[in-house]
Amino acid sequence: MMSLRTILITGGAGFIGSHVVRRWVERYPECCVVNVDKLTYAGNLANLKDIEAKANYVFVRADICDFDAMQAIFAKYAVEGVIHLAAESHVDRSITDPFAFARTNVLGTLNLLQAAKLAWAGNYAGKVFYHVSTDEVYGALTDNETLFTEATRYDPHSPYSASKASSDHFVRAFHDTYGLPVKISNCSNNYGPYQFPEKLIPLFINNIVQEKPLPVYGKGENVRDWLYVEDHARAIDQIFHEGRVGDTYNIGGCNEWRNIDLIKVLIRVTDELLGRPAGKSEHLITYVTDRAGHDLRYAIDASKLRRELGWEPSLQFEEGIRRTVRWYLDNPVWLNEVTSGEYQHYYAKMYGKI
Ligand code: NAD
Ligand code: TYD
Repeated sequence: MMSLRTILITGGAGFIGSHVVRRWVERYPECCVVNVDKLTYAGNLANLKDIEAKANYVFVRADICDFDAMQAIFAKYAVEGVIHLAAESHVDRSITDPFAFARTNVLGTLNLLQAAKLAWAGNYAGKVFYHVSTDEVYGALTDNETLFTEATRYDPHSPYSASKASSDHFVRAFHDTYGLPVKISNCSNNYGPYQFPEKLIPLFINNIVQEKPLPVYGKGENVRDWLYVEDHARAIDQIFHEGRVGDTYNIGGCNEWRNIDLIKVLIRVTDELLGRPAGKSEHLITYVTDRAGHDLRYAIDASKLRRELGWEPSLQFEEGIRRTVRWYLDNPVWLNEVTSGEYQHYYAKMYGKI
């Protein structure tokens, strides 16, 4: 399989990015992986401890909003491919601070596009700019049958999804206007190891362990399509290497769950693995005020990816959830450092402010 000499992965210290970095470093030893991450609250180098000493891995702390820094990285490492994951990613935070989302997700993406365009200067042979996006750009499904396809009209509702939609438009504009060789994927909700415990699954696992309330928004009837994170990383790998330039690919788990049903599975599995009696933690379920503008249902039609590149999710949900709960139970140090904020003090000392 073709592989590039130097690939720039942005947001590699985050949840999905760390799985993509690990996959590239281990699978493509002939390729140098440059991980550029600002180390916001969501970035944690502990996610990459097992590969940080590898010869084909470099970490650079930088903000994708810093255009000069991005240009310098393209020049210094002769970057030939980009997998862009750096973003503000949590819907609830976007409701309280939409500007941070416009800055990083829109302007940061534009910076990277411009840096790639200038560095590659029309010499696009073998170059790829891969933008990792979300199914949330398509808006909310209001019935139980329709699925998001690559042709679904964009209709974002949250500041997060609006910022991701905007970044997708810039990526396509750079392809249509300048011929930049771009690829885009829009994926459904991910879960698995190293996810920051503000998102539903890791937050609830942690709360079940600690016997804290489980805040279910509204009636818990919203539906999400869940995909194990390593299956997403594998899809990114296939699309990066085999997908068509200029194309969009939807990625999804074909695995829809109403929040309340998923939460009951989480409670069952976590109680079981903790050796607690069945149903012990159900009383922790606490219905709280709904999220503003809460999208009812997301569900992906991933048939293009299956048909054209032969990709399929590898894990059944029950197995993925067991693996995930097991991982959080087996990694209390990681979880404690993240929930206490200790990891951030450490990086502030090591790198200072940017
Ligand atoms: P995350 O919040 O866990 O990680 C984001 C990473 O980006 C962090 O390491 C953070 O430090 C870094 N970052 C943020 N702002 C930065 C900046 N200005 N400069 C450099 N680095 C910066 O996010 P995630 O869940 O891993 O999502 C990664 C990507 O995948 C995002 O683009 C997101 O929109 C997309 N996505 C996520 C999901 C999901 O379920 N988590 C689903 C589909 C698509
Ligand atoms: P989340 O993990 O934040 O992902 P997204 O909003 O990107 O889909 O939330 C998943 C679902 O769980 C979503 O419908 C909101 C809901 N939710 C809760 O009910 N309680 C919570 O504390 C959180 C974080 C999410």
